Formats: sequence, structure tokens, C-alpha cells
Amino acid sequence: MSRLSEIQERIDKKIANVVVFGMGYIGLPTALFYAEKGLNVTGLDTNADLVSDLKNGITHMEEEGLDSLASQNLPRIRLITSYEEIEKADVCVLCLPSPIDKEKKPVLRFLENSIAELGRRLKKGCLVLIESTVPVGTTERLATLFAEESRLKLGNDFWFAHCPERVLPGKVVAELETNHRLAGGVTSQSTKLATAFLSSVFNAELVHPTSARVSEAAKLAENSYRDVNVAFANELARICAELGIDVTEVIQLANLHPRVDILRPGIGVGGYCLPKDGWLLVQSIKDGTFVPRLITAARSVNDEMPAYVFSRVQELDLEALSLKPIVGLLGLSFKPNVSDTRNSPSVQLVHILLAAGMEVIVFDPYVERDYGAKRAESLDELLDACEVVILGVGHDMLVRDLVEKDLSQKVFIDPNNSMPDLKNRVKKYIGLSI
Ligand SMILES: NC(=O)c1ccc[n+]([C@@H]2O[C@H](COP(=O)([O-])OP(=O)(O)OC[C@H]3O[C@@H](n4cnc5c(N)ncnc54)[C@H](O)[C@@H]3O)[C@@H](O)[C@H]2O)c1
Repeated sequence: MSRLSEIQERIDKKIANVVVFGMGYIGLPTALFYAEKGLNVTGLDTNADLVSDLKNGITHMEEEGLDSLASQNLPRIRLITSYEEIEKADVCVLCLPSPIDKEKKPVLRFLENSIAELGRRLKKGCLVLIESTVPVGTTERLATLFAEESRLKLGNDFWFAHCPERVLPGKVVAELETNHRLAGGVTSQSTKLATAFLSSVFNAELVHPTSARVSEAAKLAENSYRDVNVAFANELARICAELGIDVTEVIQLANLHPRVDILRPGIGVGGYCLPKDGWLLVQSIKDGTFVPRLITAARSVNDEMPAYVFSRVQELDLEALSLKPIVGLLGLSFKPNVSDTRNSPSVQLVHILLAAGMEVIVFDPYVERDYGAKRAESLDELLDACEVVILGVGHDMLVRDLVEKDLSQKVFIDPNNSMPDLKNRVKKYIGLSI
């Protein structure tokens, strides 16, 4: 039996040894999901503290449905920290970081180091899947690196594909099951094998075979598209502010047009993916003659939003309004109802307020860190301490509790238009444009 038939059979019979690399936001739910579908799963993360916590059943993610998925499936996963223990792997799934540096250039060393380690250890007949979001062409380069390190032959001894993760933070567990999947091989046999593997755990109708380069580009296009759309809404908000009209009303009325669907403007775009993926797409072109402009402009528009919200605070003359010189900021995560603060515009606003010498008190029911500000232990403590309140993130829990409070003496800044009904219940309501 050829090596290809062997691994194909192990995948079909669900007896393949699957190793998921990186037990973070994507890798952990992925490993749990595979375990639930009956695969033999090993989870490898180089962060020993994280692995030790997982062995004790402790996860560090606030995700709907994750606790129950973890309580049933964590005990079924072999958790390790060392590449020494992966020789028996048939399928390797890499869910490793792919950030950008200060110059907005892709940082691929996590993937490169991992592939070099794998190349030194894996046996003949393995399938490597890159789930990380990467610049176009990266999977092909990683396959070449793997071949050099392992001295194995692509298409004969190993197969290699890009299978991006497209889940939405907050809905990761549900979307793992329902999202469409791409199987982008670096060769047609790699595509077939990746398709077979994904179809063994996901609904086969949701698995789309393609090439590695198209898969990489499609993933980057999705996130860049969303980023550009939010930037349009944010630019509209800034225009409306200059014109003294309410951007929310403008968007509401514009969206009555059957072919218009403008997204919501707000405090900015955060999270792990959207702020970097446009750059990964743009940086995929190295020596081309075309210089992309729209995606990079959108990045600047969205990046400027926390500073713009700060300018709205500055417009308030606290002394003239006889207000305490302390600002309360509610919500620190990058979006509602999650604990993830990576690239959070709200946290950026905390830094801007502090740098301007303002006293800042923060509260987020999902986030324990204070980011250099004073941290209130409760919503009441924050409301007692300040008269200027910014709702940086409208967690459902916060909105529900705020409705019950007496806010009549507060200046309420609501950049995401989370609580427009407060307009007549507060001393002064400040939205994004008016
Ligand atoms: N977070 C999201 O919502 C999301 C959504 C879709 C796609 N993605 C993409 O998925 C990839 C992973 O993102 P994430 O949010 O899970 O990152 P993460 O930082 O939460 O997790 C990465 C994990 O990899 C571990 N790690 C680093 N180097 C390692 C190595 N050499 N070997 C083994 N483990 C190593 C880290 O300790 C960490 O636990 C990224 O490319 C990201 O762009 C993320």
C-alpha cells in the first residue's frame, strides 16, 4: 500500500494521530472539537503554564459553549509541551500566531520554527495543515522549508495545505461546526488529502477544495473586506461630526435603500485578526507594480478612532461644567461579551487618557487587568467615582445594568451608539458625531 493510501485510510477510519499545535483561541477549541468527533488528538503548546492549567481543566477563554465542550473532551486530549513527543503524528494542524511587527510586516517565525522542528521529527506519510492566517505564498514556502529540514519528498512522503480558521470570537464553538472550510493544498494530492481530513470531521458539503494561494488570499480578503467596511462607517461618522448631524440617523436612513448596508461606526477595530490581516494581504505583494491604497487607508481610519473619541472628551470643558476631573471607562475588551483585549480600542483609549494626564477609572466584568488606570470592582463603584462615563464596549451585562441606574448627573459618552435611549436620561449624551 502506498503512503498516500495508508494515510488516506487512517483518516477515513478516524484512527489517524492528530496533533494540534498552539492551544490558544483557535487551537484549543479546534482540538476539543476534533476530540468530540472521535479523533485521537494531542495538543502541543510551548507555553508550559497554559498546558499545566489545561491539564487541570482550566481554560482562559470566555467563549459560549466552551466550558461544556472542554469538560467533556479535555480529558480525551493528550496535552504536551515538547516536540520530542510527536513522532507518531499523522496529521499536524498548526494554529500558531501570525502577528505583524511595528512596521506592519508579517512575523512568521512561530510557524517557521514549528515547521523546522516538525521537519526534524515527523515520519514519512504525514499531512501538515496550516490554520494560521498568513500572507499569500507562505504555505508553499513553509512546505519547501519542511522538505529541506526533513529531506522528505512533497507528494511522496508528505502533503501540505492551508486550511484557514474563520470563526468569530464569541461564537467560536458554534461556528466551528457551521462555517464553510477551505482546503488549499500546495499540490492537488495535498488538496485531496486535506479535503478528506476536513470532511471526516466537518459536514463534507462545507469543505471547499482549492489551492494554498487562493485559500490564503480568500481568508485575508474576508477580514480586509470587513475592516474596509467599518472604516467607511467611521469615516462617515467623522464627516457627520464636521457637519453637526447624527451619523446613526444618516446610516439608518441610507440603509433603507435596498442595496445599501453600512456597518456600525464606533470606537475602532480591535481583536487579533482585523487590525493585522489587511496588512498581511497588502504585504503579500513584494515586488509588484501595484501599490494597494484602499486597505491601508482603511487601517489608518480605524486606528485613529480611539484618538478621535478622546478628542470628543477633550471638547468637554470639565471645569466649566463643574465636573470631577476623572473619567470612567466601561468595557475594555475589543468587542462586546468577550474577555479578549488584544488590540482593544478601549484599552488604547485608556492609554491616551492617561498620557493626557487624566485620572481614569475602569470597569469590565470580563477583564481583570487595569491597564494603568484605577480598576473599580463594580459598576456602582465606577459610577460613584466619576461624572464623565465612556461606554467603550457595550457588553450586554453592562447595558442591562446601566438601564437600572440613575445617570441623571452623568455626561455619557457612547461612541458605539450602544445606548441611544439614554439621551433623555443623562445630563449630557455624546455620540460619535453629535
Ligand atoms: N483569534 C481569532 O479569532 C482567530 C480567528 C481566525 C483565525 N485566527 C488565526 O489563527 C492563528 C492563531 O491565532 P490565536 O488567536 O489562536 O493565537 P493565540 O495567541 O491565542 O494562540 C497561539 C498559541 O500558540 C502557542 N505557540 C507559540 N509558538 C508555538 C510553537 N512554536 N509551538 C507550539 N505552540 C506555540 C502560544 O503559546 C499560544 O498559546 C493566527 O494566525 C490567527 O490570525 C485567529
